[in-house]
Amino acid sequence: MIISRANRLNRVKEYYFSAKLQEVRQLAERGFDVINIGIGSPDLAPSQETISTLQQEAAKPQNHAYQPYRGLPELRESISKWYLRYYGVKLDATNEILPLMGSKEGITHISLAFLNPGDEVLVPELGYPAYRSVSEMVGATVREFPMVEGTWEPDFDKLETMDLAKVKIMWINYPNMPTGAPASASLFEKLVAFAKRKRILLCHDNPYSLILNEKKPISILSVPGAKEVAVELNSMSKSHNMAGWRIGWINGATDYLDEIIKIKSNVDSGMFLPIQKAAAKALSNSEGWHKSQNKIYADRKVVAEEILDSLGCEYSKGQTGMFLWAKINDSIESAEKLVDHLLYEYHVFLSPGFIFGEKGERYIRISLCTPEDKLRTVLGRLSKFNLNQVKKAA
Ligand SMILES: Cc1ncc(COP(=O)(O)O)c(C=O)c1O
Repeated sequence: MIISRANRLNRVKEYYFSAKLQEVRQLAERGFDVINIGIGSPDLAPSQETISTLQQEAAKPQNHAYQPYRGLPELRESISKWYLRYYGVKLDATNEILPLMGSKEGITHISLAFLNPGDEVLVPELGYPAYRSVSEMVGATVREFPMVEGTWEPDFDKLETMDLAKVKIMWINYPNMPTGAPASASLFEKLVAFAKRKRILLCHDNPYSLILNEKKPISILSVPGAKEVAVELNSMSKSHNMAGWRIGWINGATDYLDEIIKIKSNVDSGMFLPIQKAAAKALSNSEGWHKSQNKIYADRKVVAEEILDSLGCEYSKGQTGMFLWAKINDSIESAEKLVDHLLYEYHVFLSPGFIFGEKGERYIRISLCTPEDKLRTVLGRLSKFNLNQVKKAA
């Protein structure tokens, strides 16, 4: 390469899955039937009404032009109604909702809109990797906030002892990925109070609240006064099986969204109209549709737990979301060794916990986005698994 890369790339690595899935593909090209239970990409379809709307709208010649930067009013209205229905939160459809091409891009937009080089960002010890990498990309300094192992809530006692004077943003995500820890009103109240006291923008990422969640879904914006310091990302990727469609949004006070649109409107030129219309339709999916999806995930979870049992893992039963987070057996050398062993010997790919933070070093994550019969095939393959194959050297 005769042109040198930007300095920011000295700190940013290729996304783990982008590199590892190359390895998985190579094995598949060699003829191995690799079963991927690592990635959280829903294999189920959106509702039939959603697909029909996309088809009908795509067939109209007038629907292919550029679209408004702030999204279709009809989509914002649907998001507003959906928030009221599921979270009991009132949002002004004109000013407090900004549709995005998936919530992942929102992490970049928020960071570009609010961070200067040298500002600090609190990211969870275990969390979605983009919080960290995007903060680094924009020249901010990443500070991890400690989490209590087990509840996976922020360790407020330790947080209080940290010098947070330079912290501008704190990323949080409950129901939590990767640990499956649920959200709670008391946790959100504590976080909002903390952010107000420390004058930190609290960015809550909320894509999992409709999946295998036995409690009522909650939004950080349901805490009275939260809009002063908190914004919330949400997404249709998991809740509506629309990951490839790239539909999400950010909710929050107009003042915050007005800054974010200054970035976003310079990055893209609106979303395909039929996708927005179909997304608006999907937001009125019946309770029954959501229940049917959750039934499928619940059945898969039973088999996924058997897989974890056969690997000798420990895990909590009450996890929320579409993953299972589990601690590997003490006798195993490392999660990386286990993951590679399972990939090359059993042709099963699952995620090592360290990609979500160092605290995940001795954990693995299984996704429930694989049909039950394939999960049973994995279980069958693992009947030959023996902890001695991956144990620590004596
Ligand atoms: C916690 C978390 N946040 C955000 C995202 C990104 O979702 P989207 O498809 O809306 O960009 C994911 C995707 O896996 C996620 O797990």
